[in-house]
Amino acid sequence: MQQEKYVIVIEYPKGSDKGPDQFRPDTKPIMKAIMKTAKCDGEVVFYTHKRRKALREYLLKVTEGKEAIIISRINPGNLKNVDAYFQFLNRLSKSGMMIHTHPDVMINLDFKDILYKLKEKPFCDAQTQFYRSFEAFEDLFPVELKRDKRRVLKVNYGSTGEGVYLIQYKDDGSIISTEAVNNVKYYYDDMDDFLAAFEEKFDDDIDEDELVYFKGKSGFVDCRYLPRISEGEIRVLIIKDKPVSVVHKKPQDGAFSATLFSGAKYAYDKPDNPKWRDIITLTLNAFEDIKPYLQGKEFPLLWTMDYILDYDDAQNDRYILSEINCSCVGITTEPELAAEVGKVFA
Ligand SMILES: Nc1ncnc2c1ncn2[C@@H]1O[C@H](COP(=O)(O)OP(=O)(O)O)[C@@H](O)[C@H]1O
Ligand SMILES: [Mg+2]
Repeated sequence: MQQEKYVIVIEYPKGSDKGPDQFRPDTKPIMKAIMKTAKCDGEVVFYTHKRRKALREYLLKVTEGKEAIIISRINPGNLKNVDAYFQFLNRLSKSGMMIHTHPDVMINLDFKDILYKLKEKPFCDAQTQFYRSFEAFEDLFPVELKRDKRRVLKVNYGSTGEGVYLIQYKDDGSIISTEAVNNVKYYYDDMDDFLAAFEEKFDDDIDEDELVYFKGKSGFVDCRYLPRISEGEIRVLIIKDKPVSVVHKKPQDGAFSATLFSGAKYAYDKPDNPKWRDIITLTLNAFEDIKPYLQGKEFPLLWTMDYILDYDDAQNDRYILSEINCSCVGITTEPELAAEVGKVFA
């Protein structure tokens, strides 16, 4: 006889991603869809660092004799100790539970250095760099910036525009840094002035010895500035290995950031719209290149590949991957997709 399934959504008690009922607004629709199609029971629980042991014991007890499916829906930006949370999920996985998204996958796909690892692939940019230390940054970044005049720096682990900077090198040698989260600008007299200010962003006071997942993961990814960000960012929303929606996010005129918070406009399309044929083909072909980074685990249940337009050598449109999100993708604005998620479990 087949084992009964039990679905658990893990959320964090606080955060700006919450609805009036304290849950993420799309959590209940997703839960209901899964419970209906998979004909199973389930619940939402809250994770906190302090209560992680008690929560683990509770989850083991409540899923005893059942097939446990965990859906993690925490924006890691809300957690102080993400490493401990990843270890918590990994222990649940080791006790036989299925985890979406598994931390072994998040540590690869959700980090910006994936853009560096994949840089030679047709959907990425070959001029991407990654600096693990300030010393490496100080050596190479000034050369890249002086050549290109504009570069984009992304902290390896960040979200919603935090830790993403557009750096401009002016003809007079001064530097302007614009933070994507709020379009706030910082001015520096020269390269030395800029480097001195940026150095502190490299040191975190985390003791590397205590880390399991985040060892050697700090640093900055350095991307070519893509001016066609003015035409927006194109998000392909994917359920496992099936693109289900294309979201075109257009920044406010003149703004660098395409986050909703910064006033960007969003338009939603089905993936079979001929307008998006190229990007969908590109995405489907990219799966083979991404597979090695899943470490034997499945594709995330709900994830995105975000692109910015560029031109190839023949001046044809070319899409360049600007990030992957797989830790807590929301579908609040497209509630009908909950049913699609549910189908995956059937
Ligand atoms: N290479 C790039 N060229 C131009 N703008 C970029 C580039 N990469 C990112 N941006 C802008 O910065 C914003 C934040 O970057 P993103 O990589 O999406 O990080 P996150 O969403 O995790 O903060 C994007 O929404 C986009 O507006
Ligand atoms: Mg983004």
